[in-house]
Amino acid sequence: MSAAFDDWMKTVQARAEAALDALLPAADVVPHKLHEAMRYTVLGGGKRVRPLLVYAAGALFGADAQALARAAAAVEMIHAYSLVHDDMPCMDDDDLRRGKPTVHVAYDEATALLVGDALQSQAFLVLAEGMDIPAPRQVAMLRLLAHAAGSGGMCGGQAIDLDSVGISLTLEQLEQMHQLKTGALLRASVVLGALAGADVGPDQMKALDAYARAIGLAFQVVDDVLDATADSATLGKTAGKDAAANKPTYVSILGLEPSRVLAEKLRSDAHDALAPFGEKADRLRQLADLIVQRKA
Ligand code: IPE
Ligand code: IPE
Ligand code: MG
Ligand code: MG
Ligand code: MG
Repeated sequence: MSAAFDDWMKTVQARAEAALDALLPAADVVPHKLHEAMRYTVLGGGKRVRPLLVYAAGALFGADAQALARAAAAVEMIHAYSLVHDDMPCMDDDDLRRGKPTVHVAYDEATALLVGDALQSQAFLVLAEGMDIPAPRQVAMLRLLAHAAGSGGMCGGQAIDLDSVGISLTLEQLEQMHQLKTGALLRASVVLGALAGADVGPDQMKALDAYARAIGLAFQVVDDVLDATADSATLGKTAGKDAAANKPTYVSILGLEPSRVLAEKLRSDAHDALAPFGEKADRLRQLADLIVQRKA
């Protein structure tokens, strides 16, 4: 990764952090415990891959700072909520997330449930307010995020994930599960960033979509590989959970090395998809590299 990309990443991560801080309810507002737990969940951790995608796509379409900050914060709130629920005892039952005790451990299960509920609402509030863009485009952003978060997106993928414990999926079924549980919000990040800047024409949308699908799937393929190969301290979450829970993953179904090869292929698909945008899409290309080459 180049020093310029590194600097850009740090700048965007700092902007996303500031936006999240400003757009979450203050901890001294009633109910204190819930607001404190929401802030514990969202602030000061995570790679912020979704905000990075929002900003990189937004730059391509000339989005202004305020619209980008809100779009980035909204999708990161949905993602953070999905992690809180994913870690609960009724789902993956993990006690470590982003290097800290999970929310149901640091607080309690009822609070973890409510943190997820409230973050989801907050995300839509953030998208519905304070953006100086044409109303139809703002509605398109709201609809996009709602679809990506719901039963046709992240929640749907999580449902398939839970139903798949102990059974073997075909590669097609596995891909569908990954595209929904993880790909949907990553794709939404890319398109939200673009819509924050301009109306996106069908050809541009097709190219963005091909890019987003490739990195969306690659992200979860790499997550599966890291679960099987990295350690908990590096990941900031418990390693080896998938095998312990007998979950079908790319590693269990395809094997470790073929999974790495697939991730590389998806990286190159992502690069190819961006060809129509030329050099202006370099940040998105670098993010595809980051998603595939990351170690945590
Ligand atoms: C983890 O997401 C859960 C998946 C969707 C695979 P990230 O790896 O983006 O987690 P953070 O945001 O950096 O903690
Ligand atoms: C989680 O997938 C995806 C969502 C939270 C929607 P995983 O269960 O594999 O994520 P980790 O490995 O716990 O981060
Ligand atoms: Mg899970
Ligand atoms: Mg999990
Ligand atoms: Mg995982």
